[in-house]
Amino acid sequence: MKDFLDHSLLAHNTFGIEARCHRFIEFYNIEEAQAAAGIVREAGLPLLIVGEGSNLLLTRDFSGIVLHSAIKGREATKQADGNIMLRCGSGETWDDIVAYCVEKGWYGSENLSLIPGEVGASAVQNIGAYGVEAKDLIYKVEAVEIATGRVVEFSNKECRYAYRDSRFKHEWKNRYLVTYVTYRLSSSFTPDLDYGNIRSSLEAEGIAVPTASQLRQTIVKIREAKLPDPRVTGNAGSFFMNPIVVRDVYERLAAQYPGMPHYDMGEAGVKIPAGWMIEQCGWKGRSLGRAGVHDRQALVLVNKGGATGNDVVCLYKRIIEDVKAKFGIDIHPEVNVI
Ligand code: EPU
Repeated sequence: MKDFLDHSLLAHNTFGIEARCHRFIEFYNIEEAQAAAGIVREAGLPLLIVGEGSNLLLTRDFSGIVLHSAIKGREATKQADGNIMLRCGSGETWDDIVAYCVEKGWYGSENLSLIPGEVGASAVQNIGAYGVEAKDLIYKVEAVEIATGRVVEFSNKECRYAYRDSRFKHEWKNRYLVTYVTYRLSSSFTPDLDYGNIRSSLEAEGIAVPTASQLRQTIVKIREAKLPDPRVTGNAGSFFMNPIVVRDVYERLAAQYPGMPHYDMGEAGVKIPAGWMIEQCGWKGRSLGRAGVHDRQALVLVNKGGATGNDVVCLYKRIIEDVKAKFGIDIHPEVNVI
C-alpha cells in the first residue's frame, strides 16, 4: 500500500492541474482496500476516489483522503456457450484490456478503444463511445464497502446503468471501493459500425468487412484525429454530457437548424450533441485566459498551459450560459468538478 501525506495530484489528473491533497492512499489488493477503508472510517475526513483522473477537474486543494486502486490482474473463464468472462482488477488501464481482448479474439469492446481511464471507472461511470457502453459488457462489479470493510458484489442490473451514470455516482457515492469488474465478451465478432464515421473511415481504407483488429485501429485513428493527447495538452475528454431533450424541443430546434445532428433515444427523447451547439455558439478553438475549447472537437476543454481549475470553471460557465441563451438547453459537465 502507498500512503503519502500532503501529496501532489498533478500526476493524477489529465487536465494537468496542480492541486494537493491531505493524504493519498493507493491499494494493491482486496486486503489493502479493506485497510484503506478502515483509515477512511477512522480519519472522518472528506473522501475522493480517483481512477486515472481522466474525468476530473480540480479547482482547489483537497483537505481529505484521495484513494486510488492499483489492483491489477486478468482472469478469463470460458462459458459453456463459448463466451468469455474476464475478471479484471480495477486498477488496470481500460485500453490495455481492450487491446488484450482483441488479441485473444474475445469480442465486444472494440468500439471502446482508446478511452482513457481505468477498469474501476468503466464501471462507475459507464464509459461509452461509438454506440457501445461499458454496461453492455459488464457482468458484475466487486467492491469493498467502506463503512464495514465487507466484500460485496453487484450484478449489472443492481448498478442501474444509464448514459455515463450508475448508482456509484449517486446513492453509492463514496460508499464502495471497486476492486474487480467482470466483463462478458463474445467468442463471435459482430461489429457495430453504424455510429458516426466508422463505416466511412473503414471504406476510405478499402475495408468492407473489418476484423476486430482493423476496427480497433480505425477507432483509434478517429479518436486520435479529434481528441487532444492529454500527455501533450491537458484535457478530460468530453467536458459536457450530451443533453437528451423531449421531442417537442427537438422539433422546434430542428425546424430552426436544419441538418442539426441528433440521435433518437426512443422514449427517452432525442440526444443533441453538445459539441455541435458549442461550435454554433462560436466557441470552437476559442480561449478564455489559460483555458480553451479544442479546435477539432468543441466538447473538449483544454488546458492551454498553466491553467488553474478556476480558469476552466470560468470558461465552462460561460459556455453553459451561451448554449442556454442560443438554444434554450441546459448542458451539464460530464467531468467530476472538485
Ligand atoms: N460536432 C460538431 N462540432 C464539434 C463536435 C461535434 O458539430 O465540435 C458534431 C459532430 O459532427 C457529430 C456530433 O456532433 O455530428 C457528435 O460528435 P462526436 O461523434 O464527435 O461525438 P460527441 O457526441 O461529441 C460522444 C462521447 C465521446 C465519444 C463520442 C463517440 C459524450 C459526452 N461524449 O462525443 O466520449 O468518444 O461520442 O462515440 O457522450 C468522453 O466521454 O470523454 C468521450 C470522448
